[in-house]
Amino acid sequence: MPVDVDVVRTVEMPTRLIHGPGALGHLRQALGELGVARPLLVTDPGVAAAGIAERALQQLDETIVFGDVRPNPDIEVVDRGAELYRAEGCDGLVGLGGGSSMDTAKSIGVVVAQGGSIVDYEYGSTPVSRRIPPLVAVPTTAGTGSEVTLWAVITDHDRKIKFNVGGTPLIGPHVALIDPELMLGLPPAVTAATGMDALSHAIECYTCDYHQPFSDAVALQAIELVRDWLRRAVEDGSDLEARKHMAHAATLGGMAYGTESAGAAHAMSQSAGGVHDCPHGALTARVLGPVCEYNAPADPERYARIAQGLGVATGGLAPLDAALAGVEALDSLTDEVGIPTMEELGFSEDEIPMLARIAFEDPQTIGNPRKVAISDYEEIYRNAFSRGKR
Ligand SMILES: [Fe+2]
Repeated sequence: MPVDVDVVRTVEMPTRLIHGPGALGHLRQALGELGVARPLLVTDPGVAAAGIAERALQQLDETIVFGDVRPNPDIEVVDRGAELYRAEGCDGLVGLGGGSSMDTAKSIGVVVAQGGSIVDYEYGSTPVSRRIPPLVAVPTTAGTGSEVTLWAVITDHDRKIKFNVGGTPLIGPHVALIDPELMLGLPPAVTAATGMDALSHAIECYTCDYHQPFSDAVALQAIELVRDWLRRAVEDGSDLEARKHMAHAATLGGMAYGTESAGAAHAMSQSAGGVHDCPHGALTARVLGPVCEYNAPADPERYARIAQGLGVATGGLAPLDAALAGVEALDSLTDEVGIPTMEELGFSEDEIPMLARIAFEDPQTIGNPRKVAISDYEEIYRNAFSRGKR
């Protein structure tokens, strides 16, 4: 059910944004202002290979590098990073990379601040109750918005799921250094998947039960930026202007999350992402159109507004027709930027009953604008499998 109008609500934004080409050059100063002398730099081999980690390290004196982050980071990597942090006497964190590196850095911060293992802090069990150590998040992709979200997503291989940690400003980065120059070398597939993830955050947070005017504003701006700049960033990865606007879209999409969750597309992609290791953004994009098609009748006006944001001429159309035209535009964008099919992402149709069940159990099902039963998820998955066939 939609949130009551007479309930007092909050907007939490604990992160200072430093953005623009060359923002990485402010890393040393940002850490100094936070009183960090010996940071743990959390990153991944791809960022190291691109020479970005080296550019960060050149500014810093005493830095311990934890470069073991892999896509879809798991419990083991977080707990190992926290051990290294303690053993080396670190006093702050730098999360340098895509959502995986930034989420790992946040999660290391939680374990360092509160002890135990990151699995103890799955949303709904032990609450995150202490502020993480000072964290500077430096995104190298434009998608997850993890540099400002109040969440981290961690994979549990035993349960074959991803779980959420956070939902509180205590886990938010202290500073986000958003430097579009770091994104210039990203290949088209990564640009497309991450850009569509940013769009999915905006669309889901604009339509979920938790939306409020402040998140609406940033979500709509993110949708329009993706509309105008994602194709260009995919076509020409060296287009700094496109990179800059997509970086902003990602951060705005992350801001739309707040302390709340998204909706059915993320319930599906986060649960399915624990089954087959595939890019989160691509998987979310592949289910997003079918989810919007399913949800539109529950709130045609909001989905019609999204259609406008995506560039659809909605004048004269009834709200539901406009909303469905928006879904078409979304599907076209998804295909144009080359998002893989469900099969290409590693899934097969005989997995649909299982995928539908775990999506239903994912906490982000609550808050979706239309009630979703397991059988509804099966239908949405069948539609997702039919999309993108060339
Ligand atoms: Fe996402």
